[in-house]
Amino acid sequence: MLLQLIPYLACGCIIFFCYVVFQYSSSGCDLDNAIQTGDVNIAHCRDHYYKALNLSASGRKNCTKIIEGDLEEVRLTLLENFHIKKRKVMTNDTEYIKLTKDCTAFKKMKKYVLFSMSNEERNYPIAFSMVIHNDIEMFERLLRSIYAPQNIYCVHVDRKSPDTFHQAVRAIASCFDNVFVASKLESVVYASWSRVQADINCMEDLLNSTVEWKYLINTCGADFPLKTNAEIVTALKSLREKNSMESEAPPAHKKARWEYHFEVKDNIARTDVRKGPPPLNVPIYSGNAYVVLTREFVKSLFDLDFARDFMNWAKDTYSPDEFLWASLHRVPWIPGSFPQHRKYDTSDLIALARLVKWGGHEGDIKNGAPYSECTGKHRRDVCVYGSGDLHWLLQQHHLFANKFDPQVDDHVIQCLEEHLRFKTFYGNNM
Ligand SMILES: *[C@@H]1O[C@H](CO)[C@@H](O)[C@H](O)[C@H]1NC(C)=O
Ligand SMILES: *[C@@H]1O[C@H](CO)[C@@H](O)[C@H](O)[C@H]1NC(C)=O
Ligand SMILES: *[C@@H]1O[C@H](CO)[C@@H](O)[C@H](O)[C@H]1NC(C)=O
Ligand SMILES: *[C@@H]1O[C@H](CO)[C@@H](O)[C@H](O)[C@H]1NC(C)=O
Repeated sequence: MLLQLIPYLACGCIIFFCYVVFQYSSSGCDLDNAIQTGDVNIAHCRDHYYKALNLSASGRKNCTKIIEGDLEEVRLTLLENFHIKKRKVMTNDTEYIKLTKDCTAFKKMKKYVLFSMSNEERNYPIAFSMVIHNDIEMFERLLRSIYAPQNIYCVHVDRKSPDTFHQAVRAIASCFDNVFVASKLESVVYASWSRVQADINCMEDLLNSTVEWKYLINTCGADFPLKTNAEIVTALKSLREKNSMESEAPPAHKKARWEYHFEVKDNIARTDVRKGPPPLNVPIYSGNAYVVLTREFVKSLFDLDFARDFMNWAKDTYSPDEFLWASLHRVPWIPGSFPQHRKYDTSDLIALARLVKWGGHEGDIKNGAPYSECTGKHRRDVCVYGSGDLHWLLQQHHLFANKFDPQVDDHVIQCLEEHLRFKTFYGNNM
């Protein structure tokens, strides 16, 4: 009797063995096929996909050590920057136009993550307004670092930018259903209203898209994220429908910026004509151009007469980007706003939106400085980060930091790319 069962038992064992092998091997982890069918099994295929999609930094540097703040590794890396006089652009406008003729090959070569990493992320789309004017490679690396298929990306390209740059951006956008160029493009004059209008053009297009995004984040060409999409989603949920941005009582020397009428030609210049007070005499707060906004806040810009009046009043001021969002954020009937009481004043270091090292504030933390000295270079008194800043950058809560430039230090950007991609696959999964 028992002997007769042996063939059946053997057969059962073989089937079970095959099942085990299938479960623990990478079979069924064909990335191309998974993307096409939308059937991505992260839990089962994580290692396999990461092997194909990692962004391991090039060169001899060890990014793990740089992130840990290893002084010797940082010293050697910074020394290397010093010797590279001019970094070769890896991919220029015309090359991007050529590469994107085959979108599938382009996305594969650049290792885009074309699937959602979790249902939580899939159900929490984010809108991005990306305002750029040059450096196609940096734009494409920024896009790749924040790209997720459920999000939506509007790119505003300065009308003054060269034709090939416009073409290259459109060529890249054409490879994605959820990346598009703004329907109206401004010629952006530094410190003028046109900088705000660029974001507003994207905001209008983003509201008109079919994606039900929850928050909007704006970026420029010198920004890079410090967090993965999953971490950004968690951070946005924790804001509980409030905006997050710098918004403080303005220093006296900035008040002339909205007390006088300014004229814009190729430049922006103050006149002697005094302006009236803002609509409803709302108080003006000081902040910066980079903000995290709820969908309702963005809607109110187009729906509320007050918002329209306030923006019209701000059109002939100096650098309205540095007080418009910050002031609207303190108007009681604006969605996601904070009360006007000074206890709600928020510095750039406390807000989530953007981490910046201002030259004037750098110093010895032991003596009360907010941060140590920049290890890259300064541009308009703002630190362009070097590899020695990475350890500190990754300890902060901000979603993005500014400024990065591959011509100043490409290692810090490469290490961020490597780190974020690793965390996308192996970070705290939602
Ligand atoms: C990273 O990707 C390369 C291919 O681009 C692959 O050869 C390498 O094994 C991967 N590294 C890891 C750690 O998965
Ligand atoms: C980089 O440094 C880390 C930490 O010191 C070490 O564990 C790792 O093996 C190093 N990686 C390489 C490729 O040398
Ligand atoms: C872009 O790069 C290609 C190949 O490296 C080169 O032939 C071409 O002249 C470059 N184009 C521009 C506009 O710099
Ligand atoms: C957005 O949609 C509204 C209403 O449908 C329309 O009036 C407006 O022109 C659209 N804006 C853009 C930029 O397409």
